[in-house]
Amino acid sequence: MSTEKPMNLLFCTPGEDPTPWLQAFRDALPGAMMRAWQAGDTAPADYAAVWRPPAEVLRGRSGLKAVFNLGAGVDPILDMLSREPDTLPESVPLIRLEDAGMAAQMIEYVTYAALRYMRRFDTYERQREAHQWTVLEAARPADFPIAVMGLGKLGAAVSSTLAKAGWPVRGWSRTAKAIEGVQTFAGDAALAPFLAGAKMLVNLLPSTPETRGLLGKAVFEPLAEGAFLVNIARGAHVVDIDLLDAIRRGKIAAAMLDVFAQEPLPADHPFWQEPKITITPHISAMTLRTEAVAQIVGKIRALERGEKVSGVVDRIRGY
Ligand code: NAP
Ligand code: GLV
Repeated sequence: MSTEKPMNLLFCTPGEDPTPWLQAFRDALPGAMMRAWQAGDTAPADYAAVWRPPAEVLRGRSGLKAVFNLGAGVDPILDMLSREPDTLPESVPLIRLEDAGMAAQMIEYVTYAALRYMRRFDTYERQREAHQWTVLEAARPADFPIAVMGLGKLGAAVSSTLAKAGWPVRGWSRTAKAIEGVQTFAGDAALAPFLAGAKMLVNLLPSTPETRGLLGKAVFEPLAEGAFLVNIARGAHVVDIDLLDAIRRGKIAAAMLDVFAQEPLPADHPFWQEPKITITPHISAMTLRTEAVAQIVGKIRALERGEKVSGVVDRIRGY
């Protein structure tokens, strides 16, 4: 008879039914003890899989070997850790989702935006509402350069797909990258040439102290007149008042926004009143249970074998 203790996994995504998640983990890790966190649960756990957990889920939890963030962005959990710094020792790695089915969703969202704006379907929709028959100028991908901020798991996949589809694509990251068919730029000094004359700006940066508030007047001005904005990263990147001003001046012709500083977007937020802003409720890339569980379980198995895994968050850098 084996005397080995079963592995213990703790799960916490407040506001979501944990049942299908627990089942998916049990199916993928037979023999492991899987439980959903409930207030007062302080029992040891080997691993935790969480999204926006309260501090009590992690604080003082003995036995923790790693915490898995059930999303690509770690700003919510890092914000919590900055308010409650003793919650998770540095020795316990925080590991985020890497793609796990999100890149394909981002590609769909951005391809839709690129076609919608390049072919002016947004304008034709407004004309349809006004019973107006006006033919706009023809558009070619070659005249519609797209600038993608962030060349990580999601930004690299989006850039490369857009480039293969025929758009001139530039990408911007912190450190230098090479992506076939994409003109790449790195670092703050390269931001202005990266932006210059772009017809569509796509944001796929993480929310960090360096990137919050970046999408304001200074970033909009170098773009082409009547450029388009697609923000699918975080609302904290955008200076809302600068975006509204840029839209009213025609500097930005229209925007597709999936993320907001406050979510749900408050009913009295001026974005709701601006017809040139398309609003989606943080759905551009959703966490897919099957893919997420498979990735996390693969990493748990690797950690148990003593191997290194990718996706470990640098808590100082913020992503
Ligand atoms: P990632 O792999 O960590 O990539 C981040 C990219 O941003 C990297 O290329 C990084 O540069 C670059 N970067 C970071 N700080 C920078 C700076 N100061 N200046 C220039 N570039 C900088 O992240 P990911 O998996 O692609 O995800 C990106 C973000 O998408 C997430 O953090 C999350 O906020 C958002 N997201 C949103 C949704 C949604 O549904 N709306 C879903 C998933 C993710 P280096 O390559 O040089 O490190
Ligand atoms: C969603 O917003 C994520 O970061 O995965």
